[in-house]
Amino acid sequence: MNNANRTPGFSTRAIHHGYDPLSHGGALVPPIYQTSTYAFASAEYGAACFAGEADGHVYSRISNPTLALLEQRMASLEGGEAGLALASGMGAITATLWTLLRPGDELIVGTTVYGCTFAFMHHGIGEFGVKVRHVDLADVHALKAAITPNTRMIYFETPANPNMRLVDIAAVAGVARGHDLVVVVDNTYCTPYLQQPLALGADLVVHSATKYLSGHGDLTAGLVVGRKALIERIRLQGLKDMTGAVLSPHDATLLMRGIKTLSLRMERHCSNAQQVAELLAGQANVAWVRYPGLPSFDQYALAQRQMRLPGGMVAFELGGGVEAGRRFMNALQLFARAVSLGDAESLAQHPASMTHSSYTAQERAHHGISDGLVRLSVGLEDVEDLLADVRQALEVCV
Ligand SMILES: Cc1ncc(COP(=O)(O)O)c(C=O)c1O
Repeated sequence: MNNANRTPGFSTRAIHHGYDPLSHGGALVPPIYQTSTYAFASAEYGAACFAGEADGHVYSRISNPTLALLEQRMASLEGGEAGLALASGMGAITATLWTLLRPGDELIVGTTVYGCTFAFMHHGIGEFGVKVRHVDLADVHALKAAITPNTRMIYFETPANPNMRLVDIAAVAGVARGHDLVVVVDNTYCTPYLQQPLALGADLVVHSATKYLSGHGDLTAGLVVGRKALIERIRLQGLKDMTGAVLSPHDATLLMRGIKTLSLRMERHCSNAQQVAELLAGQANVAWVRYPGLPSFDQYALAQRQMRLPGGMVAFELGGGVEAGRRFMNALQLFARAVSLGDAESLAQHPASMTHSSYTAQERAHHGISDGLVRLSVGLEDVEDLLADVRQALEVCV
């Protein structure tokens, strides 16, 4: 079989896509273009770049060759035409929404989203005339009823941070298509290895690449992937003029290093999380566990259909509520008490007082974030050690 006709697989593209060492003096690892500006061969060429008539780099707040490789690679992995790298997940989300929404527009948002995304919607863009409306996207009738002539976008996370609620991406995209709405999916929890929203009809995927994509907890980064025309608008407005949330070339290189092992890491995160979730689900002092790989998960069928594997995140609550949750967290010896997720290290945090404290208590109750919820990001350690840590911490909180 002729290799030229084969589409390389996910892991091969994560390692090689868009780069030929022989075009770079044989350097196996892509060079880091540590530059803020670029020399023009002539004044006319510089003017043509600025006018969008020539394809050249002009200034690193707009584009940079190291970031361009990362952007192409991520576009390939998400199955999109183009990508845009930014300095953080919030940089990616805010640049996208500032670009695509205007005062008077309406934005439909899934019931539960990450705390800073919620804060941006309600206290950021919401205060500049965009009307934000949360809708239970599992209910297609409710979604249809919420759409008005001013609705421009549907935004959601699946699984949602922190309560693991899923949204049927294809069903929502089907409704959106009939109304010409832009569908934006935060794919941070899954990465393209587990879930590909664009193939299911979404228009844009946003990421906190700080998490699984980088995988080592040593940088912050964000990405947006989708149609080239939309991505270039976000680059030239949201990134260049509105946020300036530029990723450094050095961090782009670290991020590409992380992405090379994404598939291996995700397999291990998922198998470790499955065993931790099963252990928790079998305990008398655990009130509930939400993990898409448990047959008891209320959206198990959707998880099986939409996700390659159930992910590395587990949400649960102890029978003793908030106080028992605190005792559990304080008793952990291997899991670190820390926010963020997707690192090699296992992490435990309390969303009501940490990542989702931007919601008021009333808002948390309304958006399905119970005060006793403990969120685990199950890492890459030996699973027996993780299970032993959870077991001993559970004993302490009885
Ligand atoms: C689902 C989700 N989206 C976006 C973000 C924001 O990403 P960053 O912290 O890289 O700005 C986070 C951060 O925790 C997140 O969990």
